[in-house]
Amino acid sequence: MNLVLLGPPGAGKGTQAKRLQDQRGLVQLSTGDMLRAAVAAGTELGRKAGDIMERGELVPDDLVIGLIAERVDADKGGKGFILDGFPRTIGQAEALDRLLEERGKKVDRVVVLDVDDDKLVQRITGRFTCATCGEGYHDLYKRPKVEGVCDVCGGTKFTRRKDDTEEVVRARLKAYHAQTKPLISYYEGQGKVRSVDGMADIETVQKEIDQALDGA
Ligand code: AP5
Repeated sequence: MNLVLLGPPGAGKGTQAKRLQDQRGLVQLSTGDMLRAAVAAGTELGRKAGDIMERGELVPDDLVIGLIAERVDADKGGKGFILDGFPRTIGQAEALDRLLEERGKKVDRVVVLDVDDDKLVQRITGRFTCATCGEGYHDLYKRPKVEGVCDVCGGTKFTRRKDDTEEVVRARLKAYHAQTKPLISYYEGQGKVRSVDGMADIETVQKEIDQALDGA
């Protein structure tokens, strides 16, 4: 199954994609993670994308489409993909449809996570990550069991994303409403959309996604 997780910044796409990956053996493809890795490695792509990401704008379609094509080809025999943060424009969605069709695949389901904008700002500005293993935490919703120590690996260093300030989150939300939200109608036209209440707690959202994937 190839699944697109669609939703604004902070809706919980990454959180739910990791759970789906663990439970269903699907491969998470996060263009945000790939771009951040390119920025950290100082590659040409990273140099092109870094400033754009810090402003909360979308990087050009051709750069992210190339990244996805490489990953799809690298996992030919797998059970499928969870597309997290891609596509984000109609151009990306059309390119994805073509890319999958050429390989005898398709997008099977599009799960839309609905969350209020103000809640998203609170979620994102409180988010932090273990610098060693990448486990995600939140100032209000998910603190480490022992303060300052990662529950998973025992690491003691944590990082926050540069684009997680309130000002940049507002810019990211603007980009979502202008460029990404129209994808809901695009995929509704293909009969693939299931909406989930992303305001519920993480476990409840996960159950709703399971129902959306396993139901008719
Ligand atoms: P990207 O990394 O994709 O960021 P995003 O879409 O803004 O989404 P986030 O990762 O911030 O949020 P999320 O929905 O994954 O939420 P999370 O699970 O972390 O993109 C970053 C930038 O890269 C873009 O701005 C753009 O510049 C560029 N880019 C990436 N892809 C691109 C593309 N295709 N085209 C062009 N440019 C691209 O959850 C957030 C927090 O909330 C966490 O702390 C989590 O623990 C908590 N949380 C999650 N669910 C719940 C819940 N149900 N209840 C309470 N807390 C919750």
